[in-house]
Amino acid sequence: MANFFPAALLLLLLFFFNPSPLEAATDSAIITSIDCGASQPHTDELGIQWTPDSSLIKTGLTQTVPNATSIPQYMQTLRVFPTGKRNCYALSIPGGASTQVLVRATFYYGNYDGKNSPPTFDLELDGSSWSTVETAVDKVVSEEGIFEARGGSTSVCVVQRNEGELPFVSAIELRRLGDDMYSRYDRSSSALVLALRTAAGVSAQLRYPDDPYDRIWFPIDASDGLNVVQNQANTIDTGIKDAPPAAIFQSAVTPAAGSNTIGFTAPLPSNNVSAYFNLYFTEVTQLAAGDNRTFQVFVDGNAESDPFAPPFGSIIEIYMANISASSTTQISLQSTTGATLPPVISAIEAYVIIPLSGGGRGGGSAAPAPGNGDARPSAAPQASDVGSPTPSDSSSLPASDQTNSPPTAQRVPAGFAFGGGRKGSPSFGNKVEVGRALVIGIGILLPILFLNFV
Ligand SMILES: *[C@@H]1O[C@H](CO)[C@@H](O)[C@H](O)[C@H]1NC(C)=O
Ligand SMILES: *[C@@H]1O[C@H](CO)[C@@H](O)[C@H](O)[C@H]1NC(C)=O
Ligand SMILES: *[C@@H]1O[C@H](CO)[C@@H](O)[C@H](O)[C@H]1NC(C)=O
Ligand SMILES: *[C@@H]1O[C@H](CO)[C@@H](O)[C@H](O)[C@H]1NC(C)=O
Repeated sequence: MANFFPAALLLLLLFFFNPSPLEAATDSAIITSIDCGASQPHTDELGIQWTPDSSLIKTGLTQTVPNATSIPQYMQTLRVFPTGKRNCYALSIPGGASTQVLVRATFYYGNYDGKNSPPTFDLELDGSSWSTVETAVDKVVSEEGIFEARGGSTSVCVVQRNEGELPFVSAIELRRLGDDMYSRYDRSSSALVLALRTAAGVSAQLRYPDDPYDRIWFPIDASDGLNVVQNQANTIDTGIKDAPPAAIFQSAVTPAAGSNTIGFTAPLPSNNVSAYFNLYFTEVTQLAAGDNRTFQVFVDGNAESDPFAPPFGSIIEIYMANISASSTTQISLQSTTGATLPPVISAIEAYVIIPLSGGGRGGGSAAPAPGNGDARPSAAPQASDVGSPTPSDSSSLPASDQTNSPPTAQRVPAGFAFGGGRKGSPSFGNKVEVGRALVIGIGILLPILFLNFV
């Protein structure tokens, strides 16, 4: 992050002259971090303070994962629920009647019971069905949702699904997001469940404090044919609503010479769901006269954005806030005919939009409507290998997958794909209306001008 020191300096200067409410908001982004089954509070190397769950829940038994010294401490203990179909944590959210929050629940089975039998169970968020958790012997499974919590509290529940498979939880994290962040879904009736959050600019997972909101960004798993290029900008203005951290723009992926397309799929369910994508771009080099890096976003061959050229020293986000998409939906970035340089992309987020039921909203009363768990849509979890939690299954997209491409100078696209092993087949019906993507990034050159005076 050394490159970005000047940006940090400028931010400090800007805060000095014009104190921003953002500072206060991000200071309090970490609402709570619960280390389930732990006996003592502790602070990890990132400065996150973990609290044991014993004062938050009366049910369940604490367990310790054997031989788990190489994984973060918060995953080394868990709470398992041998009794009761549904067991819930009520979480209080100080300040504000409605708060946009990120909730992350983490499950590491680690053969704690010596039975080599990782359970599958359901997860409920704020009284609504969230997902089905399929744990694994030696993998960390993490489920993350973004939604508007009401009434100063929320709840996270695990619900038994199969006889003999006991639900458990390793950790629950609650973060406060800015009210402007992830604002393009219907907060009154739905939530976003994370399917993918990946960035070219990170070499290992990046989270708090680099991202003050403690979103976890995994390295892009680029396949052959894609190169990682470093950003040459000294400062970068990331001032858009979704507040992406500057660190994710330190580099980007671009196709190797000879290709003008980047293609990817996301680890969404195999049936169409309502999906929410954020794509983040920046120009990585000061373009020479005559250079032109103009490209467009296509979804299954249909243009989803106007042609645009990412700005140097600033960013553009393309969002598709409500598209019908699945694990096979192909998103591609394709150069326009006048372009001389191939596309670049720095980071991607993909979410499944799930309905939140009205009755269970807020309250944290831990008493969600019973009996409808199986009927609700479920969303895919993030599964990751312990120690190197990156999305799996990188592969190039074959040229034949791009049959619907527009008539640009089409060559074999480089690609990256995420997913495989997705389960659950939520069906939201045959929704074919596609949200029009908009360019919302703002390129403010002011900081660069400032730099001349510093
Ligand atoms: C823990 O490690 C020890 C020594 O490597 C091994 O003998 C034991 O089987 C391991 N226990 C579990 C539950 O994996
Ligand atoms: C780059 O090419 C596009 C067409 O692909 C054109 O619309 C745009 O004006 C060009 N930009 C520059 C700076 O020449
Ligand atoms: C999924 O949605 C896309 C785009 O709307 C559509 O073309 C496709 O036929 C749908 N697939 C299924 C299985 O419904
Ligand atoms: C998302 O798209 C579906 C299908 O077109 C539509 O019914 C729904 O109202 C949209 N939701 C939002 C928040 O725009």
